[in-house]
Amino acid sequence: MMALRLLLHLTFLGLGTTQPLAQQQGFSAPAFDWPSFSNLNSPQEVPDSIQIPNNGSKPLVVDVQVFVSNVFNVDILRYTVSSTLLLRLSWLDTRLALNSTGHQQNPVMLPWDVIWMPRLTVREALWVNWQDKNPQARVDRDGHIEFYLALTTETNCDFELFHFPRDQSDCHLSFFAFSSSVTELEFQVHVVNEILSVKREFVVQDLKTQIPSQQLVPCFQVTLRLQNTALKAILTLLVPGEALLLADLCGGLLPLHTERIAYKVTLLLSYLVFHSSLMQALPSSSSCNPLLVYYFTILLLLLFVSTTETVLLTGLLARGSLRAEDSPSPALNGEQHEHGKPGPNPEEAPGAGTGSRRHWAEAADHIFFQAYVVGVACSQFIFPVLWMWATCKSNPAPGAATPHGGRPRL
Ligand SMILES: *[C@@H]1O[C@H](CO)[C@@H](O)[C@H](O)[C@H]1NC(C)=O
Ligand SMILES: *[C@@H]1O[C@H](CO)[C@@H](O)[C@H](O)[C@H]1NC(C)=O
Repeated sequence: MMALRLLLHLTFLGLGTTQPLAQQQGFSAPAFDWPSFSNLNSPQEVPDSIQIPNNGSKPLVVDVQVFVSNVFNVDILRYTVSSTLLLRLSWLDTRLALNSTGHQQNPVMLPWDVIWMPRLTVREALWVNWQDKNPQARVDRDGHIEFYLALTTETNCDFELFHFPRDQSDCHLSFFAFSSSVTELEFQVHVVNEILSVKREFVVQDLKTQIPSQQLVPCFQVTLRLQNTALKAILTLLVPGEALLLADLCGGLLPLHTERIAYKVTLLLSYLVFHSSLMQALPSSSSCNPLLVYYFTILLLLLFVSTTETVLLTGLLARGSLRAEDSPSPALNGEQHEHGKPGPNPEEAPGAGTGSRRHWAEAADHIFFQAYVVGVACSQFIFPVLWMWATCKSNPAPGAATPHGGRPRL
């Protein structure tokens, strides 16, 4: 058993000496470099004080207080959250109790590598920066140990972006102590919100802790509930989108034979630029994509339909006037060249056929405009209703359905 554990320690020695930025399988490095055992010849020489304290048949209870001091970056495109935490670990190691008759009355500070302590790794971490490389533990006369760890970490988080930019997501940080088993070690955990900075787009609404059940390794989990404050997204996405739609509606009031087509095409082009930058600002997901994506795609379709209608009717009118040019009286023809396009008065229109065609086109345009206004109004009404009532639940992750390496059902 001893030999096995030493072997395990030595295997970790190789892992711990470098501090890799990104870890395979999402596990971070052991908290610190492990104490060097290279001068030991046999497992019996491993100092007793770095073995886990014994609590009879019960596991040792380590009390953990998590102070969340900052959530300084939320990157929805990469699905990551960066945060700064302070952990206060305390437990009882009676082997370190000093006799009351001794001269030492005050608590003593011991370097972390001469006593046993839980080595924590964060499962969701892309990287962890343990700020104090040589932390010290405070040991009082009874053997109570108090130990502080400050860390900055970037962790993966599955944001629920269905209601982006009013989204709210739960992000987990799971701390595992791989050097012990659940029969040896147990965590008791509390969390304290110490966030002082409010200059963030995302605010921490709630903090929770839990001890996940059915784990092979002692662990505790901190959950941050992040809420998007949405102001920036509303200003940069919704306002320009609505403004373009309104401008397009107003364009429908321009008469067909003016520059309406240029106006509509310009609007459609600017909307396309806006749309592509919007799509780049939102992440993609296998399920529950933001509702806003569908909304802006419908806006794009509406603009496209209204531009197409203008193009078709203008084309129809132009063809009509071209045909009229083929067989008019020379006087009328000259007049038309002066104007450059069909005259504003119906009386001036060349030929009776063109006149009726033009009336027909204007009537169609009028009907289309009314239908378009109704369509836009409906889209503006249906969307908030959908927003209020629609919900979306992401598919469970393969690992969550079958913990401990069961066969994932994909
Ligand atoms: C030993 O286990 C008991 C029962 O779980 C617990 O109340 C006690 O705090 C433990 N002692 C230490 C030193 O962890
Ligand atoms: C405390 O005293 C006991 C005997 O009373 C002794 O066995 C033990 O080693 C002492 N511990 C320390 C840390 O001095």
